[in-house]
Amino acid sequence: MTAPPPGMTDRLLDAMAHAAARRYGTERVSELAHALQCAELARDAGADEELTLACLLHDVGRFAVDQTLVFDRVGGGRTGGRGHHSARGHHSARGHHEVGADLIAPYVPERVAWLVRMHADAKRYLCSTEPGYHASLSPASQHTLTLQGGLMSPEEVVRHAAHPWLGDALRLRRWDDLAKVVGKETAPLAAWESLLRACFR
Ligand SMILES: [Fe+2]
Repeated sequence: MTAPPPGMTDRLLDAMAHAAARRYGTERVSELAHALQCAELARDAGADEELTLACLLHDVGRFAVDQTLVFDRVGGGRTGGRGHHSARGHHSARGHHEVGADLIAPYVPERVAWLVRMHADAKRYLCSTEPGYHASLSPASQHTLTLQGGLMSPEEVVRHAAHPWLGDALRLRRWDDLAKVVGKETAPLAAWESLLRACFR
């Protein structure tokens, strides 16, 4: 962790406020509503601060980063690309999970950035290991699964299962999937400002 540049937290808060006017992919909620619902589900389930912050920021690569750098948008990209494995250093466009994690990684605890980076792989993991999970996903989420690499090989599943934070990544993923309820009331963005400022030290 290094000290954030002055205004980094303000930049994120500003991007999130503007995300109120951005639709979450093809879902029927805004990017901001999705982030707030996800963070609130985590907090209500007793998640610790790092996991909760990761929930709030998991899609930061969608709304705080130039989207021409991101390939796994609905309607935007290289169908069938295996971005998270092959993209780094080889292509200019990468998955929103990677771009977002890289944006915050210098300033937050390692686990927060790791969880943001993992939220696409967590979906791949669950699709590969849990019967019925894929069918439970929204059409948009099923579509981006393909862009994000599709199902995991058995070797990938074993490797991911051994990671001590995988359980947290799967919890985040399930809250992510649930955080798409149209019109759901949540606490406002301001309710998360102190947590953001505390974690972006
Ligand atoms: Fe999400």
